[in-house]
Amino acid sequence: MEERVLRLLAEAAGYLSGQQIGQALGVSRAAVWKAVERLRARGYVIDSVTRQGYFLRSAPQKMDREAILAWMPPDHPWQDRITVLAEADSTNTRLKVLAAGDAPEGTVLIAERQTGGRGRMGRSFVSPPGMGVYLSVLLRPECLAGALMHLTCAVGVAMCDAIQDVTGFRPGIKWTNDLVGDGRKLAGILTELSVEAESGAARYAVAGIGINCRQRPEDFPPELGNRACSLEMLLAHPVDRNRLAAAMILRLYEMRAALLSGRDNLLNRYRRDCVTLGREVVFQWAGKEETGIARDVDPEGALIVELSGGKTVQVASGEVSVRGKTGYL
Ligand code: BTN
Repeated sequence: MEERVLRLLAEAAGYLSGQQIGQALGVSRAAVWKAVERLRARGYVIDSVTRQGYFLRSAPQKMDREAILAWMPPDHPWQDRITVLAEADSTNTRLKVLAAGDAPEGTVLIAERQTGGRGRMGRSFVSPPGMGVYLSVLLRPECLAGALMHLTCAVGVAMCDAIQDVTGFRPGIKWTNDLVGDGRKLAGILTELSVEAESGAARYAVAGIGINCRQRPEDFPPELGNRACSLEMLLAHPVDRNRLAAAMILRLYEMRAALLSGRDNLLNRYRRDCVTLGREVVFQWAGKEETGIARDVDPEGALIVELSGGKTVQVASGEVSVRGKTGYL
């Protein structure tokens, strides 16, 4: 009941009266009032004005399992597999421990803060409390590890969908695993795979996503310069992190269903979102720095780069860091 009231309030353009909500849900005004009181006790700030009704001013500041579930269908297959932690070193690291046991596909770990958030190539991912969504999901596709080369791309598209669902804004993707807005990094993705040595079969994959939500420019470490941004900086209004986490889980579930059978479609969608294509990029190749134009993304998710002499090379994401000729993009 609270969840249904919350959803109506969140989607309303202005005030909704107790009578309007009651009619929409088939309950009395008193029942609506009680649900509003319970939501307030959970940290939602809901204004009430005589003859106008209720208005949702803000959502709880903390990541909260119940608040996430409020944005998901009640019978979602992954809903009992979601855990919110106050703190983790890294949600990917923690989830890999569960994955080595018998945690099922769709196990999701979310942390309010990470003390050792990890990015690609041994980099760290700064994960302060109250600012971002730090989420990892466990997948157990039954296939050879080689059939999952496009996983990071698929997660990238799913995360663009989730952000668009909640904010209306669609980020771009900087190959391979960064989401960008206004030329700056908004989010990062780290996918990790465990492979059975003899058969080459995938044991499990953990996909971890960190999205900057509420930071202002001064909240980022100075070494990031102006290369990072948050949804709030791009949109100039707060984002409900619990709602975003729910959208991420829903889109990851959908992505998982299409992962093995819908690879071509996922990659075409990735190509459309990928802002690296058509740009001049710099990368390390056979020990030396090379420059070229990013032309395409191949079926395995590798970047096809045309070097100055006209020769093309395939750059696989595990090996290199690609940057723009004149900066981050
Ligand atoms: C990158 O920028 O290279 C990837 C960053 C990935 C960060 C996310 S936050 C949730 C999950 N836990 C981690 O330690 N890393 C990922």
